[in-house]
Amino acid sequence: MDTEQLRRHNILVVGSSNTDMVIKAGHLPRPGETILGGTFFMNPGGKGANQAVAIARLGASVTFICKTGSDIFGHQSQQLFEEEGINTSYIFSDSEYPSGVALITVDEQAENCIVVASGANANLLPSDLAKAEEAVDLADIVLMQLEIPMETVEYVAEIAYYKNKKVILNPALAQPLSPSLLKHLYMITPNETEAEMISGVKITGQESAVKAARVLSEMGVQNVIITLGSKGALVYCDEGVEFIPAFKVEAVDTTAAGDLFNGALAVALSEGRNQIEAVRFACKASAISVTRVGAQSSVPYRSEVDIFE
Ligand code: ATP
Ligand code: RIB
Repeated sequence: MDTEQLRRHNILVVGSSNTDMVIKAGHLPRPGETILGGTFFMNPGGKGANQAVAIARLGASVTFICKTGSDIFGHQSQQLFEEEGINTSYIFSDSEYPSGVALITVDEQAENCIVVASGANANLLPSDLAKAEEAVDLADIVLMQLEIPMETVEYVAEIAYYKNKKVILNPALAQPLSPSLLKHLYMITPNETEAEMISGVKITGQESAVKAARVLSEMGVQNVIITLGSKGALVYCDEGVEFIPAFKVEAVDTTAAGDLFNGALAVALSEGRNQIEAVRFACKASAISVTRVGAQSSVPYRSEVDIFE
């Protein structure tokens, strides 16, 4: 892809790509338990890929950087990204590790448990990203999660920060974050568990959520959004502190709700909406997604979000 084409891609997502093997079952198994009677389906997933697909379907230009295996899942993912209109110029293929796979069980209450075999995702290294610096140059917003090596996330955050890009980190899965990584972020978007782990504040309600957000901001991140599942999200940003309630829907599968939220948030910010409006837009997109099964199979299109109330 030439520079002119890349210039239109103003959100860069760096992250994981998986194939999700999902079984919907009556309940989540206890250790040692086998459950009969579930239904199986396969659909594309991975936090990075889910966010990139959300951005594409919600109408923004997106470049996605990930690493897959050189196997059937990797080839399928590449093809799907192209069909979504995602710029795939920097998708790396690993000759040694297989593509990432997630085994997911979803119960009747829409709760899930997930086991990920990271495969090639764990081998997306700073040396790969050094070959993709042009994609950082041409991005306005860089969105990352934590299903790839921390050293890669830190590398990208640092170079993007010094190029004056807005770096948004969705710190999933929860891990301790270094002070220098926090300093390079424009925004952090933990869920309740991640916010507790990073801030050390137990979240039991609105007051403690604000306290956790304040601690995160004192750790050096300018803008903090804490997602609170079916309760909505807390905005603790330059533009104010506000709870945005979730939209009331009948949830069937909450897998990837956070990914949809982050993708939509990046789109709304890239369109110049303020942080509170952007979170409202993200709550809409993620509410639609929980009414559908799967990760990328649940991602709504822009026309659906615009008419959703
Ligand atoms: P996941 O790990 O399932 O991808 P997460 O834990 O990262 O999600 P959540 O805080 O559970 O993120 O959800 C993200 C956003 O999705 C919430 O802020 C909310 O707007 C929306 N959401 C999640 N669950 C529901 C629900 N049951 N009804 C409506 N909206 C929901
Ligand atoms: O956030 C949901 C995603 O987490 C799934 O698509 C799965 O692949 C895991 O990465």
